[in-house]
Amino acid sequence: MKKHAITLTVNGEERDLVVPSNRTLLDALREDLGYTDTKYGCGTGECGACTVLVDGTTSINGCLTLAATMDGASITTAAGLAQDGNLHPVQQAFIDNDAIQCGYCTPGMVLKVVSLLDENPTPTENEIRSGLEGSICRCTGYTKIVEAVQDASNRMAGVGE
Ligand code: FES
Ligand code: FES
Repeated sequence: MKKHAITLTVNGEERDLVVPSNRTLLDALREDLGYTDTKYGCGTGECGACTVLVDGTTSINGCLTLAATMDGASITTAAGLAQDGNLHPVQQAFIDNDAIQCGYCTPGMVLKVVSLLDENPTPTENEIRSGLEGSICRCTGYTKIVEAVQDASNRMAGVGE
């Protein structure tokens, strides 16, 4: 199978790798580059566990994206969200609102929320729920995740400061 030399910038670090045409971005991140905070769930674009951000805050499913098509892209995984030793407000809101149980969905869910709040900084509950369609959590029942998103929205807007 044809191989492709590509460069990805992952969490600010430039990484060169060679991938076969059928290598998914998820496998390239996890298996080739060691970013195991990006999770494999379904492999078919239905659970959101593999969500990463591309070139800012556009969320994509790593399992549905071929690595070879991402040459030159800048990728953010959950491990790249913290800045200067401080968790991203969305990460902190998930912790403070008990929106994490087993944690398997959490990296992808947090990244999806970062993307959602960038597009719509003050979403309604319905907008949060529809924005998170495609991100499955088997543990929390979603209520605490919705509360965490509302809390993160307020924090990012500076409400209560
Ligand atoms: S592993 Fe990619 S959407 Fe489930
Ligand atoms: S916290 Fe377990 S799947 Fe979401």
